[in-house]
Amino acid sequence: MANVRRPSDGVLITFMPTPSNASGNAPLAGRRVRAAIIGIGAIGAGSHLPALARLAEEGETEVVAAVDLDGDAVKAFCAENGIPHAYTDLDRMLAEQRPDLVSICTPPTLHRDQTVAALRAGAWVWCEKPPVPTLADFDAVEAEEGAETGGPYASIVFQHRFGSGSNHVRRLIAEQALGRPLVAHCQTTWYRDTAYYAVPWRGRWQTEGGGPAMGHGIHQMDLLLDLLGPWSEVRAMAGRLVHDVETEDVSTALVRFESGAMATIVNSVLSPDEVSRIRIDCERATVELTHLYGHSNDNWTITPAPGTPDADLAAWRDFGADVPSSHLAQLRELVASMRAGERPRSSGPDGRTSLELITALYKSAFTDTTVRAGEIGPGDPYYTALHGGAPGWAPVPAQASAAASEEIPA
Ligand SMILES: NC(=O)c1ccc[n+]([C@@H]2O[C@H](COP(=O)([O-])OP(=O)(O)OC[C@H]3O[C@@H](n4cnc5c(N)ncnc54)[C@H](O)[C@@H]3O)[C@@H](O)[C@H]2O)c1
Repeated sequence: MANVRRPSDGVLITFMPTPSNASGNAPLAGRRVRAAIIGIGAIGAGSHLPALARLAEEGETEVVAAVDLDGDAVKAFCAENGIPHAYTDLDRMLAEQRPDLVSICTPPTLHRDQTVAALRAGAWVWCEKPPVPTLADFDAVEAEEGAETGGPYASIVFQHRFGSGSNHVRRLIAEQALGRPLVAHCQTTWYRDTAYYAVPWRGRWQTEGGGPAMGHGIHQMDLLLDLLGPWSEVRAMAGRLVHDVETEDVSTALVRFESGAMATIVNSVLSPDEVSRIRIDCERATVELTHLYGHSNDNWTITPAPGTPDADLAAWRDFGADVPSSHLAQLRELVASMRAGERPRSSGPDGRTSLELITALYKSAFTDTTVRAGEIGPGDPYYTALHGGAPGWAPVPAQASAAASEEIPA
């Protein structure tokens, strides 16, 4: 790398020539995927960098740049990890480095604009959950993908879908090896204390995007949908039982699937005995996943119905070599899709499913109605805001709250 200087605007500039082989849709055959990390906080440093580094060891990737608002931190991060270019400005990085892949690891309200900027620069995107704040944002991002030209695409990080356990169970259910799925439970019962919600951006629609349905339960709901396929209707409740938040701190929902299967969902941050669980009762067996933040083969159990032949049970319980759910497992598939010029899993309609269910969950809870799949589109208040403007749930405008307080009699 050549000289690095730091101009007064805080942007870190490196004087490397723009790589000639790195336009967005250029073939990747015979070379590494050139990746950039946006946001070097907990998940950028703790999960994206290690996954990219592991694939770098295998000759698949190289991290060419990192971007963060904090110039000193990103400079130190790049120096520590052998990343040649540090930036505080995303557009500048995209223009100068022309990466093939951009990992977006920033807070959710930035995901839409940063994803669109990267797609327009020809880069594929791997964006952290929750994907974007609303379905309108998601559709705007999807419109920027190169769907007719083999990319670039934007894939959402839903690492629980990946790994040997979910792959095996998805296949068993898809092939109806266990018979029809009938009843399911999807549980994200976690615990977050008052100090957690004392951080100003948490618990607010504008900055956190939603409550535990959006921020915490999204992983389990996404996996449930990945295993069971499309849902058709939802009825839900939301509550603020403990924390002083704008959003909910607990929600429950009943969901019917197109297949006829029925499920219960609980998303809580009020549960001292923390667990993430999915249980699916099929005609011939119950499949259960019990874990907290990630799973391996040992986290899955399969309990047969009476009379199941031993050979069937042995086949169902053979999960193969253990590949834990992880960012690495998803990134491997994403890089393979990039090389093939194919839409990656967890992008487009396949990446939208959990956001649509969560939006419907909030609409059902706040309007006390049953919400059907596909009904929330342009013109629906929940299409552009997860609180839907619902009284008692939508943020109270500052002026209105001041006026209201003036009206209170002494
Ligand atoms: N997949 C998972 O299991 C998982 C786990 C934790 C967090 N996440 C998600 O990852 C995302 C980031 O969460 P986190 O916990 O790493 O947050 P964090 O606060 O630790 O890190 C965010 C980083 O983004 C940087 N940043 C903010 N604005 C920026 C901008 N405009 N340009 C560049 N950088 C900017 C911040 O300086 C910070 O370094 C969130 O969407 C979160 O929900 C996912």
